[in-house]
Amino acid sequence: QNNLPETITDAETGIVFNTWGVPEDSPQSRGGWTFGMALPSDGLSTDATEFIGYLKCAAKDVKGWCGFSLAGPMTNSLLITAWPHEDEVYTTLRYAGGYAMPDVYAGNAKITQIRSSIDGDHFTLIFRCQNCLQWDHNGQTGGQSTSAGFMVLGWVQAFPSPGNPTCPAQITLEQHDNGMGIWGAVLDENAANPSYSAWAAQATKTVE
Ligand code: HEM
Repeated sequence: QNNLPETITDAETGIVFNTWGVPEDSPQSRGGWTFGMALPSDGLSTDATEFIGYLKCAAKDVKGWCGFSLAGPMTNSLLITAWPHEDEVYTTLRYAGGYAMPDVYAGNAKITQIRSSIDGDHFTLIFRCQNCLQWDHNGQTGGQSTSAGFMVLGWVQAFPSPGNPTCPAQITLEQHDNGMGIWGAVLDENAANPSYSAWAAQATKTVE
C-alpha cells in the first residue's frame, strides 16, 4: 500500500480525499481496497476530532466485509467495520482487546453516511466519523494526531458476510480471509479543506 497519499475527488459529492490502498489485481487482497480521509480546514495544524472517510472495499457477489484500524493493529484501537447488505452499507464501531471477535465500542464515536454504492465486486461508503480520532473504551484510551501529518493505520478484508447483517451491534464474523496489513499514511495539504463543514453537513443518514 502507498504511504504517500493519492488525492481523489469523489465525482458525486465533490469531496476531496487523501487516499491509500492496493490495486484491484493486488495479490495482497483480491479486489483491492482504498481508504481515504478528508479533514476539517485546520486539521493539519490542530488535531481534528473527526474526519470524512472514504471506503472502497472488495466483495464477492455482494458478500464480504472490510475493516480499518485507526491505530494500526487490530488490538487496542478503534475499529471501523463495514459490509454491504441488499442496497445498504452497514457499519459498526468496535474495539478488540485480543485477536478475537471485537466488542462493540463503548465510547461516543458516531458514523453518519453521505453516500454509498454497491456493485457485485465492490462497495463504497463515504461517511462522517465524529469523535473517531481519540478513543476511550471503558478507560482504555488512544488516538491519532492529525497535526503530525502522519498516521499508522490498519486494514483488513474478508469475503464471508457477517451474520445478523442488519443488526450492527450483533453481527458475527469469521476471522478475515482476504488480506490485512498495517501502513503509514502520510497526509498532504489536500487532506484538509475549507469546504469540510459543508461536506460534513451532508452526512444525514444513519444505517443501523
Ligand atoms: C489481524 C483475528 C476481526 C482488523 C488479525 C490476526 C488475527 C485476527 C489472528 C493476526 C493474524 C496474523 O498476524 O497472521 C480476528 C478474528 C476476528 C477479527 C478472529 C473476528 C472474529 C477483525 C476486525 C477488524 C480486524 C473486525 C477491523 C475492523 C485486523 C487488522 C489486523 C488483524 C487490521 C492486522 C494488524 C494486526 O496484526 O494487528 N486478526 N480478527 N480484525 N485484524 Fe483481525
